[in-house]
Amino acid sequence: FSAFLTDSFGRRHSYLRISLTEKCNLRCQYCMPEEGVKLTPRAQLLTTAEVLRLARLFVHEGVDKIRLTGGEPLIRPDVLDIIAELRKLEGLKTIAVTTNGMNLARLLPKLKDSGLDLLNISLDTLIPAKFEFIVRRKGFHKVMEGIDKALEMGYNPVKWAPWLPAPHPEATSSVWRPLASVNCVVMRGLNEDEILDFVALTEKKPIEVRFIEYMPFDGNKWNFKKMVSYQEMLDCIKQQWPALEMVPTGHADTAKGYKVPGFAGKVGFISSMSDHFCGSCNRLRLTADGNLKVCLFGNSEVSLRDELRSGATETQLLDIIGAAVGRKKKQHAGSATQRSLFLRKVPPAVKRASLP
Ligand code: GTP
Ligand code: 5AD
Ligand code: SF4
Repeated sequence: FSAFLTDSFGRRHSYLRISLTEKCNLRCQYCMPEEGVKLTPRAQLLTTAEVLRLARLFVHEGVDKIRLTGGEPLIRPDVLDIIAELRKLEGLKTIAVTTNGMNLARLLPKLKDSGLDLLNISLDTLIPAKFEFIVRRKGFHKVMEGIDKALEMGYNPVKWAPWLPAPHPEATSSVWRPLASVNCVVMRGLNEDEILDFVALTEKKPIEVRFIEYMPFDGNKWNFKKMVSYQEMLDCIKQQWPALEMVPTGHADTAKGYKVPGFAGKVGFISSMSDHFCGSCNRLRLTADGNLKVCLFGNSEVSLRDELRSGATETQLLDIIGAAVGRKKKQHAGSATQRSLFLRKVPPAVKRASLP
């Protein structure tokens, strides 16, 4: 594994998250202000060719999983070309997308043909009117349609996607990893009353619902009262289903896995706030404008775009990447977050433009 992608704590960064655009067709309250975010001028965003050149370099050094994020990655017109080109990279085992699901039903056949392996779909409520309130747009039924279509098309933990060499690396029998997850950010007073309904959804649908602790992002008006901790969610679910059991997850997974015995799907918890997972962090991030971020909570970024555009060679790029990875902190704001949680001090917010 490449020394350039190994940090001073021995963490190997084999998972790259590439933000394809800052734009989004929703305005989720926990993520964006109503008026949207200030967009970077188009000329400063990475082109298709630049995204692919950097991806190739990272994969050559040992990255075996790439997740495309945003904004909303599926509104970028060249997303299918990017996936198809990534699929050709030898050594890249997994291509994933995190989407709000709005364009999913329409794009799924093409996404599958291009070679997409994993899908995380955001859905924070099962009530259409509340959906409109949370995301400030219409579209609940489109997202539900997207989720059902994903299951139909094989993005589920029971059947492997048939075009993949079996067993899929993310879905071995020892690590029960679904190919489609639903991400649900839990906020007190908004949707914490739906936790049990979301769990009930896993009775018939072979999906993984992942409850995410609400994190402070620039301008999202985060406060302690609105955050529901993993432990609290777990207690609430156990009251209804005392037999809820833990299931194994992968070493660097963000989510702790659980399952109600007999249910088709499973439940996960992403405890970024109350119990961070920095020790096993294997992620690097590339922002839509070409900055490398070594930590979600850290605000230090280096511009790989500027290097690319001033004619840097692969070796020069690697030196810059290696130096940034070398500066990665052990826990960064993760630990500050823990301490501030204890002291009830508002932790530093994640800079919105490089989300998430
Ligand atoms: P997989 O593990 O591949 O399923 O994806 P993921 O959980 O990394 O990605 P996803 O885009 O679905 O993000 C789910 C939640 O995890 C979001 O709220 C992210 O902000 C959070 N998250 C993703 N990566 C990190 C990270 O490196 N650190 C922290 N603290 N949170 C993260
Ligand atoms: N806290 C926790 N998760 C968030 N996401 C967006 N904003 C926040 C936040 N403030 C989640 C989205 C999406 C994933 C990429 O990040 O719900 O599923
Ligand atoms: Fe990884 Fe940094 Fe997040 Fe910790 S705080 S999980 S090191 S990105």
